[in-house]
Amino acid sequence: MIPKNIYKDTLDEISNQIAKYPDSNSNRLKKTLCSYFKGKLEPENMIVTNGSMELISLFADTFIQKNNKVVIYQPSFSEYYWAVNKRNGRVINIFRDPLKEFQLNLNELEKSLSYNPQCVFISNPNNPNGSLDDINIIEKFISLAEEENILIFLDEAFIDFTGETNSIITKARKYNNLLVARSFTKFFGIPGLRIGYGGANSEIIELLKKFQIPWSVNCFAQNLAEKLIKSNDFINKSINFFQNEREYVVKKLSNIKNLKLYSSDTNFLLINTEKTHLDSQFLLNELIKHDILIRNCSNYEGLDKYYIRIAIKSRNHNNKLINILESLIKQS
Ligand SMILES: Cc1ncc(COP(=O)(O)O)c(C=O)c1O
Repeated sequence: MIPKNIYKDTLDEISNQIAKYPDSNSNRLKKTLCSYFKGKLEPENMIVTNGSMELISLFADTFIQKNNKVVIYQPSFSEYYWAVNKRNGRVINIFRDPLKEFQLNLNELEKSLSYNPQCVFISNPNNPNGSLDDINIIEKFISLAEEENILIFLDEAFIDFTGETNSIITKARKYNNLLVARSFTKFFGIPGLRIGYGGANSEIIELLKKFQIPWSVNCFAQNLAEKLIKSNDFINKSINFFQNEREYVVKKLSNIKNLKLYSSDTNFLLINTEKTHLDSQFLLNELIKHDILIRNCSNYEGLDKYYIRIAIKSRNHNNKLINILESLIKQS
């Protein structure tokens, strides 16, 4: 949970700003982000957006034309499809293999080049499985794609849970074909605020900006994001918290027979329940009776009715979920 005083301080500070338009270039936030990235990015390499969703949309508006081929590594965030579809692009799905823990290898990445697409969407860590792909492999792929003028949208909305060493954003400016997307939504737990940002070389940033609606990021979001990115202590504690709780939940759930857990580096876990014969809709209906909301993952491309995604929360909440799940499976 974000410290409450951050909200209050932000409200106090913006109370005399809302009579004006917000900074349409988010200059102060960009500078703060540049310091956070230890000067390895310049403001000209960044764009601040209304959630990383706005960046997905801008990327599509800027680079995808009718009938362009676009590869999406699936299962993944469904809004990549939305973005390609609104531009009348042609989606080519390449599937991550559950038998390989949904991990990407260079062969699978190189497969996308053979379609000669306009661009490729990859999420790392990927939603819904949550595990990190090897960044060396991803970088190698970006270089290969650069040689063929293929653009890469690398979605790092969940990377903050793993620490900055796994991010490629500070290297984004050296590529001609890479946009790295980041979000405040996930790690800071603020989906309602709508703020995200992207890193790329300055030419790509300038092209994206042409499609951005002026003032799309409000002053509360800019101001709060600045405070959050400076709160090192909170960031480090949160990373540790999620790591410990995730390990605890994995340990407990591994003792429950017939559940297949996929490894995760984030605040959620993907589980296959096929061997329990309980499907995701049944589990969702049962758990919601106890005020627990899980994600029925059956509508992800490449997953079926036996996949659920659970969120890592406080110890009490985690125990409640583990106990109810266990008793439902025992009764089945
Ligand atoms: C992988 C991924 N990227 C981006 C987003 C969009 O996040 P936001 O627009 O809130 O930053 C989501 C939301 O669920 C997501 O799962």
